[in-house]
Amino acid sequence: MAKGRFITFEGVEGSGKSTNITWAAEYLRAEGIQVLQTHEPGRTKIGDELRTVLLRTRAERLMPMTELFLMFASRMQLLEEVIIPTLSSGTWVLCDRYVDSSIAYQGGGRELGVERVKTLVLAMGELYAEPDLTVLLDIPPSVIPDRLANRTLDRFESEETSFFERIRQTYLDLAAENPRIKVVDATQPLNGVQDQITGFLNALVAESEDV
Ligand code: TYD
Repeated sequence: MAKGRFITFEGVEGSGKSTNITWAAEYLRAEGIQVLQTHEPGRTKIGDELRTVLLRTRAERLMPMTELFLMFASRMQLLEEVIIPTLSSGTWVLCDRYVDSSIAYQGGGRELGVERVKTLVLAMGELYAEPDLTVLLDIPPSVIPDRLANRTLDRFESEETSFFERIRQTYLDLAAENPRIKVVDATQPLNGVQDQITGFLNALVAESEDV
C-alpha cells in the first residue's frame, strides 16, 4: 500500500492555521482521501501533560532549553504513537505545527539558534518524517493583537511583538531555502488563502495518483 502524504501547517498565532487545516482536511476527504488531522504540542496522553506544562502562564521559570526539549518530547510521542503508523496505513496526516515551529519559536523567537534546533532534528534519526508539503500562513506581527482579541492568552501568546518578528523572519528564511514550504499571504481574504492552498493540495493529489 502507498504511504500517506504528510502535510504541516505553520504560522504565528492568529494566522488562521486551525481554520485552514480543518478546511484542507475536508477538501481532501471530499477528494476521497483518508485524512487524520492532528496538532502539536499534545494529542497523546503524555503529550497533553507536556502541553499543560508548556502553555501555562504561571510564573515558574520554564527555561528556553527545557521548552525546546519538551516540544521535541511531545513531538516524538505523537510521531511514534500516531503519525508514523497512520502514514504507513496509507492515510494522509495533516498536522498543525511540526519541526519548523521549534526552529522558528525556540531557534528564532527564544534565540536558541536555528542550527541548534536542527541538531535535534538530526537526533530524531529514522523517526523524522519529512513533510511532503508545508503551508506557511504569513502575517505581520502587528495584526496579531487584533486576531487574538477574544482569547485568554497563554504563555506564548502573551509575548511581545519582537518575539513574533523573530519567529516570522525565521519562518521566511526557512521557506527561502526549502521548496516544500509554501508561503501564503494570510492577510488576504480567506477565499484567496484557500484558493492558494487548493492549488498546493491538487498538485500533491495529482502526484500521488501518478505513483
Ligand atoms: P497552541 O494553543 O496549540 O497554539 P496555536 O493554535 O497557535 O498552534 O499552542 C502551541 C504554542 O506552542 C504556540 O504558541 C506555538 C508554540 N510552539 C513552540 O513554541 N514550538 C513548537 O515546536 C511547537 C510545536 C509549538
